[in-house]
Amino acid sequence: MSVQVRARRLSVNDIRALKGSGKLICLTAYSAPVARLLDETCDLLLVGDSLAMVIYGFDSTLPVTLDMMIAHGSAVVRATHHALITVDLPFGSYQESPEQAFRAAARVLAETGCAAVKLEGGEEMAETVAFLSRRGVPVVGHVGLTPQAVNALGGYGSRGHGEAERRKIVGDAVAIAEAGAFALVVEGVAEPLGREVTERVPVPTIGIGASAACDGQILVTDDMLGLFSDFTPKFVKRYANIGEQIQAAARAYADEVRTGAFPAPEHTYQSRRNRAGPAVFDDKTS
Ligand code: KIV
Repeated sequence: MSVQVRARRLSVNDIRALKGSGKLICLTAYSAPVARLLDETCDLLLVGDSLAMVIYGFDSTLPVTLDMMIAHGSAVVRATHHALITVDLPFGSYQESPEQAFRAAARVLAETGCAAVKLEGGEEMAETVAFLSRRGVPVVGHVGLTPQAVNALGGYGSRGHGEAERRKIVGDAVAIAEAGAFALVVEGVAEPLGREVTERVPVPTIGIGASAACDGQILVTDDMLGLFSDFTPKFVKRYANIGEQIQAAARAYADEVRTGAFPAPEHTYQSRRNRAGPAVFDDKTS
């Protein structure tokens, strides 16, 4: 009998150990098939609340519910065995109090099997991050451009250009790291600020539009695959054009249905006579 030994999943400590490496590889994932394709390549997969725009067609992350995050989070966990899976806590599920945040995080960990949650915010969320961390909930922080605060920030523009805002973002990062976050997403800040935050915190920074000075990078997978094209921010590099391939495939399919070229005989069940009984259908694929 041969026993297959699977490599163990990366842990929070493995992610922490990538501080200073510049090599922490992260992407978003929302579904089982895509997560399966990304798992071996990534250290951390984020089930981000960006699924609001990417999957559901909303124009902000605000309408996302805890149940939506749990449904997508558990699909991603089921499909993976290598990357550390982190699930976003959605807007309204954690800002009210540390206790509310704990109840939301406990549901996410228990019902998805993921290893960590991410929440947005700076100094004002430090007490909550400490509350969760002391109670066994690994937390990834998120500072700089925090999309759940779009209404307060007035848009999705990059952050930290004035001295006061720059100091505030560094203070936010330090407060969240000191409160116990094991990693920190830094979004939408200029390179010097991305570098300063990275130098000031002892945990890995994961940049998205925050420069190569960060300890690692994350992109929204659908953006870098060319699948989601409503708007492409400056920091997104397209590594593929899957959207165009899908459109071309749909057009080829439509043409073949119209001309009768599809389905061909090899895609069609043939009836075969069973000597003793009625006609049965051959369901072999070839
Ligand atoms: O929701 C998300 O996908 C995120 C990343 C952009 C970091 O928070």
